[in-house]
Amino acid sequence: MNILICGGAGYIGSHMAKMLAAHGHSVTVFDNLSTGHQEAVKWGAFIQGDLLNNEDLQRLFRGNAFDAVMHFSAKSLVGESMTNPGLYYSNNVAGTINLLNTMLEHGVDKFVFSSSAATFGTPVTEFIDETHPQVPINPYGETKLMVEKILRDFDHANGLSSVSLRYFNAAGADPDGEIGESHQPESHLIPNVLMSILADNAKLKVFGADYETKDGTCVRDYIHINDLCTAHMQAIEYMGTNKGAAGFNLGNGTGFSILDIIGAAEKVAGKTIPYDVEDRREGDPPMLVANSDLARKTFGWTPQFTSIDSIIETAWRWHKDQKF
Ligand SMILES: NC(=O)c1ccc[n+]([C@@H]2O[C@H](COP(=O)([O-])OP(=O)(O)OC[C@H]3O[C@@H](n4cnc5c(N)ncnc54)[C@H](O)[C@@H]3O)[C@@H](O)[C@H]2O)c1
Repeated sequence: MNILICGGAGYIGSHMAKMLAAHGHSVTVFDNLSTGHQEAVKWGAFIQGDLLNNEDLQRLFRGNAFDAVMHFSAKSLVGESMTNPGLYYSNNVAGTINLLNTMLEHGVDKFVFSSSAATFGTPVTEFIDETHPQVPINPYGETKLMVEKILRDFDHANGLSSVSLRYFNAAGADPDGEIGESHQPESHLIPNVLMSILADNAKLKVFGADYETKDGTCVRDYIHINDLCTAHMQAIEYMGTNKGAAGFNLGNGTGFSILDIIGAAEKVAGKTIPYDVEDRREGDPPMLVANSDLARKTFGWTPQFTSIDSIIETAWRWHKDQKF
């Protein structure tokens, strides 16, 4: 198939490009490089452009006949979304509407969307499945939920099929070490833990050790990047026979505390990781763990990286020798 990857210079999109190319698909990456890296675009064609620029989008769609679009482009720092919501609603919502309108104009009717566990807000059940209320607690999560709703309307009105995949914490790197996680600033725990080792054990900050969890630190569900990418390929297949706007939660279904992650990283890297405990951050729920039974049943999705050590090993391989 001929697949457009919006945001394909970023962490998840670049791994997606590698997997699609390995499966014989033709790939085009569209990215404004605001948080992505040109060095990460190693598979397929690259067109630099912005979702907020309609001419860029017309140029992209005029030159290609896409079978489907995977949309990873977004601003995704929760804190920044609280202080600059306009940037988030504009980039993540208005940018997506531009993309959807251009797809319709050019007859492209399959769309995979990077949604987020942030659409659920504060959990009311231990494991979060698709029936859990979606009540975001920050503008970033709101933008993701708004796009999910917009996709339902585009299905009803325009017959655009979509799958929204709500990732919990994407983690790990390409097992071959060619690409990996590189955000600036980095807000994710695993790269920060590994970078603290590489920065001569610069002290890591642990935000809150007084939560009602097994060791007082926040518990999250980490899912390997390649397992996420596999679900995207299965979502495209699914839309071949299932019309409509669907949503699925993607996680491993196991929660790891911050101290679990530090312990696992110490084991993988063979180093001790010093840390300081700081105050809780506003808006951090104690626990976020997915129930992904629906994706497992519907797609036959079976995550391969089920141990946290195996996920951190791939991340460490990349970070030790980080190229961008
Ligand atoms: N990383 C995670 O754990 C996680 C969890 C849940 C959801 N998500 C979502 O997954 C997607 C990918 O996340 P990531 O970690 O790879 O982020 P990333 O920042 O590495 O990648 C996003 C890419 O989109 C590009 N982009 C942003 N705005 C654009 C625009 N207006 N026009 C063109 N390109 C634009 C950026 O340059 C970047 O390359 C995002 O939508 C994010 O919200 C990520």
